[in-house]
Amino acid sequence: MMTLNFSTLPGDGIGPEVMGTALEILRQVGESHDFVIETSSHDVGGAGIDNHGDALPVSTLEACREADAILFGSVGGPKWENLPPKEQPERAALLPLRKEFSLYANLRPGNLFPELSDLSPLRHETVANGIDVLCVRELTGGVYFGQPKETRDLESGEQEAIDTMIYRSSEIERITDIAITAARLRSGRICSVDKANVLETSVLWRKVVSEKVAREAPELELSHMYVDNAAMQLVRDPCQFDLILTENMFGDILSDELAVICGSLGMLASASLGVRKNGHGHPFGLYEPAGGTAPDIAGKNLANPCAQVLSAALMLRYSFGLEEAAARIENAVERSIRDGLRTIDVAQGAPSVGTREMGQAILERLD
Ligand code: IPM
Ligand code: MG
Repeated sequence: MMTLNFSTLPGDGIGPEVMGTALEILRQVGESHDFVIETSSHDVGGAGIDNHGDALPVSTLEACREADAILFGSVGGPKWENLPPKEQPERAALLPLRKEFSLYANLRPGNLFPELSDLSPLRHETVANGIDVLCVRELTGGVYFGQPKETRDLESGEQEAIDTMIYRSSEIERITDIAITAARLRSGRICSVDKANVLETSVLWRKVVSEKVAREAPELELSHMYVDNAAMQLVRDPCQFDLILTENMFGDILSDELAVICGSLGMLASASLGVRKNGHGHPFGLYEPAGGTAPDIAGKNLANPCAQVLSAALMLRYSFGLEEAAARIENAVERSIRDGLRTIDVAQGAPSVGTREMGQAILERLD
């Protein structure tokens, strides 16, 4: 019997409710896949600020260091919106976690089931067959973390601010590695997105990606696209993409665009993988839904638990190597949707079910 030791950070808003559903489903799947979960819950985000004066309390960080993975809910809300940017729950919790655990590979699947295609803001013909695009975003480099990064007072009396966009070839190589592995399990196509007509970091990016794919994965089909064009192509015809590989900030922007094209944030999961190997020999990772805390519906049994449940499935796949158990959960979510179960965010005016009922429906379809 395998023991899965991970930290649960439910966060704010709907986080705790949808986390409850995800844990229930993990326990149930464990019964037929020979694992038990061993997890403890810790404050993060607004809950961290309120209870410990810190969006990422030391006690939370220490618990995560002891764990093999982090199952993350979502953080933030109106209560903390007026804090200075550096103290905002999202930034003050997520960025240090990414740095601490070197979570350099962010996988954001953009999926839209054909049954839900009307939810997409794109024209029906464009997305009638659904969407299945994976965004692979570099997460610990580039302009997010490059130094210097500061605001300074000039003698003239005005201020000046600087961010530094910087990449080393080794950082580009390791994220390309992740993209190669993922592309081999998909259609074998990678579109690398950069701004090589303007940025030095992008020129290096394009060179390193091209050389690595040519050397190690010549069977893959690699293309390159400028980021402005990629933003346009995503709304024009998202299905032309299979896997998008890109740097930190471009990935931040394009993954939100991909998410909205898929219609409901309540359905999208993500994984952030690190360098450290966990106790099972798989990468340490942080798994979180793409959507926010939805404070307006928190505690009302209205939130869509699918994204959190699918994040838990990604955790089984990447941090514990439990592919079959992960696929079982994903199939159960898909079947629930096929069978017409919808939370209010995806119901389009039709009758909807609550968080608990949706969770129950998924549980019943795990067999
Ligand atoms: C994301 C978020 C974060 C980012 C913010 C909250 C720091 O937008 O995970 O995409 O920019 O990476
Ligand atoms: Mg973002």
